Amino acid sequence: KKWYAVIGDPIAQSMSPEMHDAWFRENGINASYIPVHVKVDQLKEAVESLKKLGCSGWNVTVPHKTAIIPFIDKLDETARRMNAVNTVKVLEDGTLYGMNTDGQGFVRSLQEVYDCGETIGNVLVIGAGGAASGISFALEDAGFGPITFTNRTFEKAHRLSSGFSRSSALSFKDAESLLDKFGLIVQTTSVGMNFAQSGIPLDPSGISDGTIVTDIIYNPLETDFLRIARIAGGRTLNGIGMFVHQGALAFELWTGITPDTKKMIQSISTKLG
Ligand code: ATR
Repeated sequence: KKWYAVIGDPIAQSMSPEMHDAWFRENGINASYIPVHVKVDQLKEAVESLKKLGCSGWNVTVPHKTAIIPFIDKLDETARRMNAVNTVKVLEDGTLYGMNTDGQGFVRSLQEVYDCGETIGNVLVIGAGGAASGISFALEDAGFGPITFTNRTFEKAHRLSSGFSRSSALSFKDAESLLDKFGLIVQTTSVGMNFAQSGIPLDPSGISDGTIVTDIIYNPLETDFLRIARIAGGRTLNGIGMFVHQGALAFELWTGITPDTKKMIQSISTKLG
């Protein structure tokens, strides 16, 4: 029987085991998926143990996505560009292959709900950390853009924007006053997450009607940011789809099977709602 895992700290709250186990069951695959609590100073040992114990592949979550890179043998282009790995596959000869499905997971989730692409026009990305960069690379690959970055620390938005061909950076204040120029707004900061920071990174009231407004947060299902955007006429999307699709891409890499994402999004939404 094959087995898979997710490593992180903390890890008990992860919904990945339930999701992958359900997909294994649905697809008649004799495998299981377990959460493994790995502290920062145990990472090397954990990778060696997973390999020794015959794990076929694992997901990597906070805080190990970048720290795991020295222990991975081969990286796909996205993981290399992002300098972060969220999915590992152990190849037949024991080679560890690392990839990052977060950004593509976001784009798939967006396109599953809203029929959109390059015609959406200007994109505003709020935040300039790992999530912002992964999502932006994937958006660029899918033909979206130009991308404007806005961040509490303006300098980081500026630095991130220099890695993209058609992009620029704005302060929160300037972004707020130009909100009606964007067809897609992507909130990637942790502001609004339960047990983290309450509030909103910037006020989305000034969007134009029909603007697509997304938040990578799914706990709560609707952040204050999304609620205000919805009331202002935005078409909104929370982070459950991104979570499910990054997992589905890992599942595909491991098994070659595309799992049912819509049903999973529905069931997680009901559970968290
Ligand atoms: P992740 O990998 O999830 O993107 P990260 O790399 O630590 O995490 O980035 C966190 C992002 O959230 C950053 O853009 C950060 O802004 P700064 O660069 O100014 O730190 C943003 N962020 C975190 N707390 C914030 C807050 N209270 N208000 C506004 N932005 C915040």
